[in-house]
Amino acid sequence: MTTTWKRPLWRRILRGLARAISIVIALLIVALVIGYVRSDNECSNPKQPPAHPMSAIVYCDYGTADNLKLEPVEKPTPDDGQLLVKVRAAAVNPLDWHFIRGTPYVMRLSAGLRKPKDIRLGVDFSGTVEAVGKNVTDFKPGDEIFGGRNGAFAEYVLVRPDRAVTPKPANISFEQAAGVPIAGITALQAIRDQAKIQPGQKVLINGASGGVGTFAVQIAKTYGADVTGVCSGRNVEMVRSLGADRVIDYTKDDFTKGGVRYDAIIDNVGNRGLLECKRVLAPNGRYVLIGGGGPERGNWIGALAGPMKAFLLGPFVKQEMGFFVAQLNKADLKVLADMMEAGKVTPVIDRQYPLAQVPEAIKYLEEGHARGKVIITME
Ligand SMILES: NC(=O)c1ccc[n+]([C@@H]2O[C@H](COP(=O)([O-])OP(=O)(O)OC[C@H]3O[C@@H](n4cnc5c(N)ncnc54)[C@H](OP(=O)(O)O)[C@@H]3O)[C@@H](O)[C@H]2O)c1
Repeated sequence: MTTTWKRPLWRRILRGLARAISIVIALLIVALVIGYVRSDNECSNPKQPPAHPMSAIVYCDYGTADNLKLEPVEKPTPDDGQLLVKVRAAAVNPLDWHFIRGTPYVMRLSAGLRKPKDIRLGVDFSGTVEAVGKNVTDFKPGDEIFGGRNGAFAEYVLVRPDRAVTPKPANISFEQAAGVPIAGITALQAIRDQAKIQPGQKVLINGASGGVGTFAVQIAKTYGADVTGVCSGRNVEMVRSLGADRVIDYTKDDFTKGGVRYDAIIDNVGNRGLLECKRVLAPNGRYVLIGGGGPERGNWIGALAGPMKAFLLGPFVKQEMGFFVAQLNKADLKVLADMMEAGKVTPVIDRQYPLAQVPEAIKYLEEGHARGKVIITME
């Protein structure tokens, strides 16, 4: 007589699960390797000289700003529902150097594993409508506008009128307007939607002198907040002139060691521990992490470390602590345009570079000490 020995059911289920997980991981690895090898872009195709050329910044490979080149590309033609915009100015943002480097690496799942899928760069622009498709009713040639569109480091961009684009206020220059979309919308959504600032509340803005910070100080004041800005000594007067009630020079004082409790902290730098920030938050305060860290912060987790910590800590503390990603949209651009028209918000411009010098502009931004916005001009 023979006896058959059977493993307990739970061990068989565990073995089955382990096998299924190993197969899924192996398939994912194979998919990533195939995706990486096949990842390509239009730079690999033999190019015809453009029939109607315009200048644009292009990059064929991930790397540094030295990979960017000013090249002739085909001038776009609007379809029935698009505007053709002659770009008058653009602005650089930390987002640009994330795309140039393809870091943190997880972003390559959508941007292209080995090479950038989209070889054009830039988002923020201002300009003049040159032509409109036959279905466009709310814009006409000659209108002065600003907005956000991929590939903005170019002489022309195509824009859909229902996307992030709005008329430029007459009291704002093209250079100022170009600096608004990403930084202004991020500041607006952080103050209004994330921190939910009410009149009289105490707000601390860490990184008050940068692209987002200079808008955040002014927007927080329009919402009636009592604003404390944090920046280095050379920017103290500039931040005060934007309306900050107090300015902390981080080279001399540590905002996390003071006795004030803030109703909200808007953190553009992410250089302090979350528990240190929590110490100076009011019991029902809100900590809004916007970003922080330069290109040297690490390619794998890098800029994601702060958001991950905020996500993990959030459920265990009374205060709200979190990260958010701003959404470019038409309605909020209009809110910002109205604030500028009313003289409540004025974009701060640091340096200006011609289109051919986008690499220099990006390298300057990567140093992490821009004072307001860095602008690209079209000569
Ligand atoms: N979550 C989102 O949707 C979103 C959207 C836009 C931007 N971001 C992120 O937000 C961050 C800020 O963007 P940005 O456009 O404002 O960048 P930025 O213009 O490059 O910011 C530079 C500013 O940071 C200040 N700074 C540097 N070290 C500091 C410190 N230790 N303490 C206080 N301030 C310091 C500098 O002031 P000093 O020269 O005085 O040191 C400078 O004025 C970036 O990480 C960006 O990626 C996130």
